[in-house]
Amino acid sequence: MQSESRGFRGFPFGMPSGWFRVAYSHDLEAGGIETLEYFGREMVLFRTATGRPGLLDAYCAHLGAHLGSGGHVEGEALACPFHGWRWTPEGSCSAIPYCERIPTTARTRSWPVSERCGMIFAWYDSEGRAPFLDPPEIPRWGEPGWTRDWTARPATQVAAHPQDVGENGVDAPHLAHLHGMQAVRLAVDFEGPRFHWLIEGNYEFDGDHFQLRIDGINHGLGFSVFERSGKRDTVACVSITPVREGCTEVQIAAIAEGDGDMTDELDELDDFLGPDVPIFQRKIYRADPILCENDGHVAEFRRWARQFYPAVPRPQDSGRRAVVATS
Ligand code: FES
Ligand SMILES: [Fe+2]
Repeated sequence: MQSESRGFRGFPFGMPSGWFRVAYSHDLEAGGIETLEYFGREMVLFRTATGRPGLLDAYCAHLGAHLGSGGHVEGEALACPFHGWRWTPEGSCSAIPYCERIPTTARTRSWPVSERCGMIFAWYDSEGRAPFLDPPEIPRWGEPGWTRDWTARPATQVAAHPQDVGENGVDAPHLAHLHGMQAVRLAVDFEGPRFHWLIEGNYEFDGDHFQLRIDGINHGLGFSVFERSGKRDTVACVSITPVREGCTEVQIAAIAEGDGDMTDELDELDDFLGPDVPIFQRKIYRADPILCENDGHVAEFRRWARQFYPAVPRPQDSGRRAVVATS
């Protein structure tokens, strides 16, 4: 029986496993600490003196102080504000200021992090399993002639499950009906924990009519990266990070060829992606939807997505390709 009023409004599987962006590298200098709320918990992200990021449960494993409220970085560890126990990025206790012998049980919950391409990703798995996927790869980052850092729009919190946000990318008919594209062509190729997608169609923005072509890859359910050629070649990322049950953070960031201001590119992305937000805020998850033959890849996407839930057996990799055209 679906619940339409609690949690993710009927979504049955809980939080997915995967790599999720939790910060941009430029958010966190050496010695910096950020308090975050993701995956239904309070966490602290910190960077050691030598630059390693660590992500820990916010509440100290000793007597429960909040590490992000008065804690500070000491060398390669985060020191608790209460009694000064020091926690490494791996979650072990490296020192107790008033005791030589560290209890063998002195560990705190830590999450694997991977910093790459100007972003810090956290691995989440509700059963605490080690990462079984590679973190996302991002094209163009660091190439000469491209902007050197991400320009991000403010994050939006939506009441949709991350899977609902990802499903949007394979939902061909809504591109015409909601986003106003004409002569849409969408190709999707599911492969292991990723799917490639290509959208082509006619689009109008700010009085200009043009042929829009977006070539993207979704890495699990948490991260989508796509290349778009236009006035400037652009690479944009959409981070889809669960905050808590019933709340997902969505944030767009981009780099582009050339230097300078990214306002035009981000305005166009906002214009394209914005109409989804009010739908996400109110929709429910239909576990057993009625689909028609031109509904694109929704059913295939849902089969693919099941690999990210621990309670569900992971399907064999499939490399199936299909093309759907709508107008
Ligand atoms: S509560 Fe953190 S050191 Fe005591
Ligand atoms: Fe959409």
